[in-house]
Amino acid sequence: MQLINCPFGKLKLGEDLGLFLNGTPLKGEPRLLRDLKPVLRNPGFVTDQNAGKVLYMMYRSVVAEPTHSKTFRMHSVRFDLTVMDSCLLDREPNKTLGHVHPEAMPGLSYPELYQVLHGRATYLLQRIQDGRGRVSDFLIVEAGPGDAVLIPPNYGHVTVNVGESPLVMANLVSTRFSSNYGPYKDLRGASYYLLEGGVLEPNPNYPDPPKPVRSNLKYPVSKDIYTDFICCPKSYSFLNDPTRIGVRYCRGQ
Ligand SMILES: [Fe+2]
Repeated sequence: MQLINCPFGKLKLGEDLGLFLNGTPLKGEPRLLRDLKPVLRNPGFVTDQNAGKVLYMMYRSVVAEPTHSKTFRMHSVRFDLTVMDSCLLDREPNKTLGHVHPEAMPGLSYPELYQVLHGRATYLLQRIQDGRGRVSDFLIVEAGPGDAVLIPPNYGHVTVNVGESPLVMANLVSTRFSSNYGPYKDLRGASYYLLEGGVLEPNPNYPDPPKPVRSNLKYPVSKDIYTDFICCPKSYSFLNDPTRIGVRYCRGQ
């Protein structure tokens, strides 16, 4: 068991990507290698023998204290934890499936706030212009322990575990929508594949993808996103009302 440094509770990483919060095991949902087959650079990597491998565990609607549930519910926000294994999927480091969020209001989709608690992540963000795979921006955001990254409105996102240990990350997101994995499945992943060694390879299914841009923009956090939310939930109203996001975070640059 490994103690994860975070102020909101005593979080421990156990065997098989398991998490314990304040001594209680959290109930999670696994994402298997076979689930990611549609978005892999090399789908032939998935075989009958390895298809059932757990790539990451998702722990949704986590609360450190039962009294916090009401605060999350009142503000239509949930707090999730994800633990991603450190492994290669052929030449790609382990990654999430990738998804987009629906619109919270005309022209603006729901944003999301992530924070790395342990390990190293690279977030691949892309702004999709239309249903034919046209992407206007492709952002790469690298994050280590404590770093918080905002997924701006209208950006789809994939997380890659680029570290050599399991990645533990947290997120705050609206409870008013379900994620849409379709665009990533239809086009076999994001417009670029992040390969081992940090190499970016264009995905041939996208017409004319834009040049990738590295962004260092981190979202300011006082303690951790959980503690900050419980302390001042109104400052996270942007999760349901994207017009409340500061201009500099709207495009992630
Ligand atoms: Fe998301």
